[in-house]
Amino acid sequence: MQYSIIQLKTIYHEDSSYGALSVFEGVNDIPFEIKRIYYICGADDGIKRGMHAHKELKQMMFCPYGEIEIELDDGWSREIVLLDKPSKGLVLMPGLWRNMIWRKKDSVLCVVASEYYSSSDYIRDYDAFLAFVQDGNNNGGL
Ligand code: TYD
Repeated sequence: MQYSIIQLKTIYHEDSSYGALSVFEGVNDIPFEIKRIYYICGADDGIKRGMHAHKELKQMMFCPYGEIEIELDDGWSREIVLLDKPSKGLVLMPGLWRNMIWRKKDSVLCVVASEYYSSSDYIRDYDAFLAFVQDGNNNGGL
């Protein structure tokens, strides 16, 4: 499946009460230039979002606070990734159906994306998604 889990560089303070700083750079640490950043806050425990795939968009998701489960489906199989640490990043290539499920209230989902927003890049119908990936139109690749 065309995703990868990456460890974001994290710098710890000598006194842990000062917290930790995590960092990544476009191209150097993730496989694309960053054109867009968005984030989802204020969702309750159990909330499910996503239910779509992208035709060309590459993304990297991380959860700086809380716990969010990411269900991935490439049209052939399904896998689950738990974003449960600020230092964990999930790189998603195009052609993956994703559901995001909030496992703790107020968990924050941050996403960096390779393209500006385009509604035409979304596939929101699951049968259309299956046709897209199974017809070999998925140009992604890690
Ligand atoms: P969507 O990507 O469907 O979010 P989720 O899968 O988490 O529910 O986006 C929700 C709404 O926000 C949808 O109407 C599109 C809009 N939106 C933008 O206008 N710009 C953006 O960059 C994004 C990500 C979403």
